[in-house]
Amino acid sequence: MSKPRYKVSPVTRVGGELTVPGDKSISHRALMFGGIAEGDTEITGFLAGEDCLATLRVLQNLGVRIERPEEQHVLVHGVGPEGLKAPATSLDMGNAGTAIRLFMGLLAPQRFDSTLIGDESLMKRPMERVAGPLRSMGANIQTRDGKPPVEIRASGGMRAIDYALPVASAQVKSAILLAGLQSYGRTHIVEPAPSRDHTERMLGSFGVEVLRNGPTIAIEGGQTLRGTQVRVPGDFSSAAFFIVAGVLAAENGLLLRNVGVNPTRTGLIEMLRQMGADIRVYPQGGRDDDPNREPIADIEVRKSRLKGIKVPESLVPLSIDEFPVFFVAAACAEGETLVRGALELRVKESDRLAAMAQGLTTLGVENQLLADGLWIRGTDRFGGGTVDSLGDHRIAMSFAIASLKARAPIEILDVANVATSFPSFVDLARTAGLQITVG
Ligand code: S3P
Repeated sequence: MSKPRYKVSPVTRVGGELTVPGDKSISHRALMFGGIAEGDTEITGFLAGEDCLATLRVLQNLGVRIERPEEQHVLVHGVGPEGLKAPATSLDMGNAGTAIRLFMGLLAPQRFDSTLIGDESLMKRPMERVAGPLRSMGANIQTRDGKPPVEIRASGGMRAIDYALPVASAQVKSAILLAGLQSYGRTHIVEPAPSRDHTERMLGSFGVEVLRNGPTIAIEGGQTLRGTQVRVPGDFSSAAFFIVAGVLAAENGLLLRNVGVNPTRTGLIEMLRQMGADIRVYPQGGRDDDPNREPIADIEVRKSRLKGIKVPESLVPLSIDEFPVFFVAAACAEGETLVRGALELRVKESDRLAAMAQGLTTLGVENQLLADGLWIRGTDRFGGGTVDSLGDHRIAMSFAIASLKARAPIEILDVANVATSFPSFVDLARTAGLQITVG
């Protein structure tokens, strides 16, 4: 069977009002924390994308009963801290890096063996960044050349760790927090720079005390999670495609409703504003400084003249998943844009620096691939052509947005994985005004 592709014809206007689906990071965590909590957890606004559905199935394989009365409404019947059961088969995480890494932390302290696998892309991604610190805590965990399958042997008990993260990674931080929660003593993690803090916030709402002191996060082992209600906001990383679309082409504005605006996620807004973008954020609930809640806002964007910038490295972890679409904005800006300090982009669902450099070159956008970043010279209009998403959802959606400045159609190969994070992307893109067909 041939892999699905998009064909996107050039249009020069977008607009209207959209609501993007639920946040992927928060949906994964709500399922997992609900699974090991005492009592029931009700999740609304759940992202019914392939990645989160993989997490849901894995929990079922571990003996957690889960109901889904509606697509985005999930009831997790928590089994409590000692209640997970040995799985009968390998646990398949699909394309989901967050699932495999957080499950490593969740499963390493358990009294049963488990094997964690995934799809072709996930089987190539680095896992020692999590396995290493877990081993120092006493876990018996093996990877193959640093990659999955991850083999975990039954634990006889783990101990707390003091660990300085070598890279700003929420997945590594969260895995260690989940292991620390099930270990003896108090675990301390020091972050080199802030990364998304959904785990810390959500553990708080499940009744777990997580202490933060500057760059240090501390968690005491042995605390029990209590089931709760989780309202998942719209995914900022999905909204990002339409934020850039609006900045490129919304003459009369484009409104995105109910978007999660946790400040550890919204670096893209800051980068685009530095380029001159007109982006307005209308808070709708939750507060930035409330440790247990996720802030939500409506975001309005308008067509703006963009100027290239040198991206401050401090913004990189705060916009890590938005770089593919940010590079599209940079390709449409006047002058040069430079991103450095973004080596992590090479170990995402694809090598996102290489994938974007290659696709932009195909469209005729001058760029230079750097070891840890990308240099781009923007242009008012570029060409069309066939670009390969390399099976990476965010690369596929970014090149669809690029059609707003293309003179000819853009064909995007291998787009099935858009369903991992944003199953309704094509529908919403059409609602906004994009001309996109799937073949
Ligand atoms: C995520 C953390 C980030 C991000 C990923 C989701 C999470 O990965 O890229 O899409 O939910 O914790 P890293 O922690 O590896 O940077």
